[in-house]
Amino acid sequence: MPGASATDRPVSLCFVCLGNICRSPTAEGVMTRLLRDAGLEGAVVVESAGTADYHVGDLPDHRARAAAKARGLSLDSRAQQFTAADFDRFDYVLAMDAENLRNLSALAPTAAARQKLRLLRSFDPASPPGAAVPDPYHGEADGFEEVLDLCEAACAGLLEHLRQEHRL
Ligand code: 4NP
Repeated sequence: MPGASATDRPVSLCFVCLGNICRSPTAEGVMTRLLRDAGLEGAVVVESAGTADYHVGDLPDHRARAAAKARGLSLDSRAQQFTAADFDRFDYVLAMDAENLRNLSALAPTAAARQKLRLLRSFDPASPPGAAVPDPYHGEADGFEEVLDLCEAACAGLLEHLRQEHRL
């Protein structure tokens, strides 16, 4: 079993999208709040990253930050690119869409690394198989609301999975 119980080392998660400025920082912010509300901030650690290096060092997109702020979430992470070595740092690597998943799978150095990969929405029991968190970057503001809605639903399911799998 990856990760551990509350008495062992923390379970580690990385949310991954393309640029690490819209979807994955949003998922990171949503999950961080869920964990804090559940009193599990020490038991589960969360980061986010992008498959691309376009925005490394940048804050999240201003539209993502504004939409999150309206729901009481502050998105302050700085973009980083996911590397092959990062598979050693995380128990779960959570892709936003099928392209992210393909790119991460190609980057995975071992079968054990590949087994850490999941589509984030696979943890939402209401979501169809293979469902994505759509890329809002070239769209309108409502795309960022949809990203928040989808991340809230999927992260709630992910938290439930972690509670059961790791007895948190
Ligand atoms: P993200 O959105 O993958 O959700 O962070 C994007 C951000 C930037 C770009 C594409 C998607 N870009 O092409 O710069």
